[in-house]
Amino acid sequence: MPAKEIITNSYEETIAKGREIAARLVPPVLVLLKGDLGAGKTTLTKGIISGLGAAREEDVTSPTFNLVHEFRIQNPDASGPNARACKVYHVDLYRIDSFHDLESLGIEDALSENAIVIIEWPERFTFRTDWPTIEIDLDHAGGDSRRIAISDLTVKK
Ligand SMILES: Nc1ncnc2c1ncn2[C@@H]1O[C@H](COP(=O)(O)OP(=O)(O)OP(=O)(O)O)[C@@H](O)[C@H]1O
Ligand SMILES: [Mg+2]
Repeated sequence: MPAKEIITNSYEETIAKGREIAARLVPPVLVLLKGDLGAGKTTLTKGIISGLGAAREEDVTSPTFNLVHEFRIQNPDASGPNARACKVYHVDLYRIDSFHDLESLGIEDALSENAIVIIEWPERFTFRTDWPTIEIDLDHAGGDSRRIAISDLTVKK
């Protein structure tokens, strides 16, 4: 699958990239964020969720302890012409260790709504969904540089 690759050189540039991505998201969509610790998954999510108008950048924090944070697009005007009012979920599966945990998260319910679901550490679980899926791979590229590869929007079967 062809991936579009860009380099950001600061936290702020990654936030800006997230805002650009937000403008192209139409629910339902699953956004899978892959990459090592500190690669910038949460930073990109701050850009996406603030770009959607669902929260301020500083109010999007790592869902390390409760694993799922739920937002709602408050102002559809701020989210571009494509996004309607919908829920936005920010999930971090880093600490998930059993299927049992996953059931308790309610992610499967989220996947049946008309939502935007952003998942850090998706490698921790295999998602079976026919939702359109965007995969974004983030890598350290020296210092404050990050390589961000964005797959084309695909429908996973
Ligand atoms: N170009 C950049 N893009 C994003 N973050 C950057 C960049 N340069 C430096 N940073 C810093 O790198 C860190 C990225 O942390 P972030 O929480 O976004 O990573 P993460 O991939 O979510 O990690 P984790 O796997 O622990 O959840 C932040 O401290 C941020 O300030
Ligand atoms: Mg994170």
